[in-house]
Amino acid sequence: MKTLTLGLVGVGRIGQMHAQNLLTVRDQVAARGVQLEIVLADAAPETARQVADRFGLRATESVDTLISEGIDGLVIATNTATHPDLIRAGLAAGIPVFCEKPVSSDVVGALPLLKEIEAASGVVQIGHQRRFDVGYQEAKRRFDAGDLGWLHGLRAVSGDAFPPPVEYLATSGGIFRDMAVHDFDVIRWLTGQEIVEVYARGTNNGDPEIGAVGDVDTAQATLTLADGTVAMATATRYNGAGHDVRLDVQGSKDTVVVGLDDRSALRSAEPDVGFPAGTAHQTFAERFVDAYVAELVAFVELVLGERENPCTPFDAVAASLVADAAQLSLARSEPVAVPALRDVLDGTAEPVPAVDLVPFSA
Ligand SMILES: NC(=O)c1ccc[n+]([C@@H]2O[C@H](COP(=O)([O-])OP(=O)(O)OC[C@H]3O[C@@H](n4cnc5c(N)ncnc54)[C@H](O)[C@@H]3O)[C@@H](O)[C@H]2O)c1
Repeated sequence: MKTLTLGLVGVGRIGQMHAQNLLTVRDQVAARGVQLEIVLADAAPETARQVADRFGLRATESVDTLISEGIDGLVIATNTATHPDLIRAGLAAGIPVFCEKPVSSDVVGALPLLKEIEAASGVVQIGHQRRFDVGYQEAKRRFDAGDLGWLHGLRAVSGDAFPPPVEYLATSGGIFRDMAVHDFDVIRWLTGQEIVEVYARGTNNGDPEIGAVGDVDTAQATLTLADGTVAMATATRYNGAGHDVRLDVQGSKDTVVVGLDDRSALRSAEPDVGFPAGTAHQTFAERFVDAYVAELVAFVELVLGERENPCTPFDAVAASLVADAAQLSLARSEPVAVPALRDVLDGTAEPVPAVDLVPFSA
């Protein structure tokens, strides 16, 4: 039996979910002869201890002690602004890193880090879990196989049933960087095309505190892909029907919908249509539980050197570049061109200017 130790730093909302999912990962990899040990740390050591006790895991005092203990891989689930320094800590220790999305609060902040990762040949997987969801994978498989024909549209929906805490939103970078970035990532991944222009709108009709920290609670972005295909991404924090994440992939031969099943958070307005009839998902944690487990199994395989990186920092920052452009488009009320990330890194194109959250009034 081979033993592998993963350190999980950050045990807030998603860190606790990862801690729980890592128990399933541990069972899955044990069947392949890998004994997984999991150690937790958080800026609040007492919280780390409590979460560790809850899941029968071990906690350590700080990130420094976690890394100096000699772990084989680092899983980062802390607030976005802390990601770059923690990724650097993993690189300095020479260990593979899994980091929650996004890589950093804005793309300008991610550029030096991307260069450092490339220079060090660092192994860093970013947590865009939808790439591991069976529905997204099947839609990509059918598109790649030619079953859908050429695309005449994509419609991405991301709806949270209720907003996260306002304190979280204040440091999230805004709804496009925090939420719609998942849609931008899967649209790039599924189509194999870059998003070259974005025109965004947004509003705030819910809790005024969300506007007060500079975010909108509902937003839409019209996206233009490199071949001219037009796509739409919508995001809201107030989808009372439940957690609703879907993608319509509309082709000249066929259309498939990701996330349309008996638990979809929507109801038909047509008479005598009983579908969907199940209880709608309420949180991202339950909607994507299998995908979150699969992405961490993939990280274990990455640590073991058994697979390619399924979501590189370059890919994640390319999606964040679209999010930055959307945030700028929202602020300026005009379309914004998205430069190619490679050109931005090479210095032949300017990055999209970073827009900080400023109090928003509807
Ligand atoms: N992939 C997804 O679907 C998804 C969903 C939600 C959140 N996220 C991402 O996960 C990250 C965390 O979000 P969250 O909602 O769990 O936040 P959170 O505020 O609930 O938890 C963050 C935790 O990190 C700890 N922390 C902060 N700085 C630290 C540091 N320097 N060292 C150690 N611990 C530190 C905090 O004490 C807290 O316990 C964000 O980057 C967010 O974008 C991803």
